[in-house]
Amino acid sequence: MSTFDSVLQDINASPRTWLVTGVAGFIGSNLLETLLRQGQRVVGLDNFLTGYQRNLDMVRDLVGEERWASFRFIEGDIRDLATCHEACKGVDHVLHQAALGSVPRSIDDPILSNECNITGFVNMLVAARDAGAKSFVYAASSSTYGDEPTLPKVEDIIGKPLSPYAVTKYVNELYADVFARCYGFTAIGLRYFNVFGQRQDPFGAYAAVIPQWFASLLRGETVFVNGDGETSRDFCYIDNVVQANILASLAPAEARDKVYNVAFGQRTTLNELFDLIREEVVRHKPEAAGATCVHRDFRAGDVRHSLADITRAQTLLGYAPVYDVREGLRLAGDWYAANLK
Ligand SMILES: NC(=O)c1ccc[n+]([C@@H]2O[C@H](COP(=O)([O-])OP(=O)(O)OC[C@H]3O[C@@H](n4cnc5c(N)ncnc54)[C@H](O)[C@@H]3O)[C@@H](O)[C@H]2O)c1
Repeated sequence: MSTFDSVLQDINASPRTWLVTGVAGFIGSNLLETLLRQGQRVVGLDNFLTGYQRNLDMVRDLVGEERWASFRFIEGDIRDLATCHEACKGVDHVLHQAALGSVPRSIDDPILSNECNITGFVNMLVAARDAGAKSFVYAASSSTYGDEPTLPKVEDIIGKPLSPYAVTKYVNELYADVFARCYGFTAIGLRYFNVFGQRQDPFGAYAAVIPQWFASLLRGETVFVNGDGETSRDFCYIDNVVQANILASLAPAEARDKVYNVAFGQRTTLNELFDLIREEVVRHKPEAAGATCVHRDFRAGDVRHSLADITRAQTLLGYAPVYDVREGLRLAGDWYAANLK
């Protein structure tokens, strides 16, 4: 039995109360879905800045009314400490996902990113500490590697941040570390590497590449590639990320107060990604077979290559990602084809 299976067995046998911030977003709503399916009680917090009621409605349909009754939603903002205190009351495990994602968004509006990602983060740490939460797992980011060229990325070797977003995510790690030193309140940071899958928003100026390209190809619109397409990423399917969050929440003391890479451990260039996505779209829309992409300028703040060493998560958390890029794209493609109107 895998570590994840045995952890699921444990939490099934004795359900806990979880707080998922950013619950109406992409990753948060997937955490919510899995936790409710596992018979857990969940409190969710979101201000709908980039999340959607429709994500919550979809989870409700998927899990059914009986499981949904174990969910309590608070519409509120992590920039407000009282709201964070209210959300943390009686909670065992905190999964802190709420933040403003996207490198270009942070370049356009560093103040808003700073408020949500740093002030909001410290509020959540204080509230979870005061409430005596048993664990605090937060969404860190591979952007923290910045201009460090070494591949694969290992947790202890980072460079200078390349965007305001990267600064905010690095500051989260510094605060988490200081809370362990000053208050004995330990946290675990999960440095996500380009997560993708169902319910990731394909629209808007700040959409991530995978949902954006699925939407463009399904609608017969032009696909734009930033740069020469040889930029590479370690794309990670959402179910792997959900697994890492649950494992980290139940991790033993010696695995806490650390950051972990959360990825699959495989590098894909944008040119390869385009071919893979087109292949998936063709299964649903054969006329996409002839689609090509248009290259444009590189984007400011982007790192050139990204690939994770996931040894630490494998060793200390028992993380064992199940879905590689191809399998993940198949599942994501089916979902976008069924849900994009
Ligand atoms: N998706 C990725 O590839 C990726 C990679 C690295 C890190 N992350 C991090 O993972 C987390 C989740 O990202 P996602 O992809 O699900 O993004 P998302 O935008 O879909 O979800 C973020 C959620 O947080 C909510 N939120 C934002 N600011 C808030 C505030 N001030 N108060 C309350 N709620 C607020 C939004 O409304 C949204 O529902 C973020 O912290 C992000 O920085 C994501």
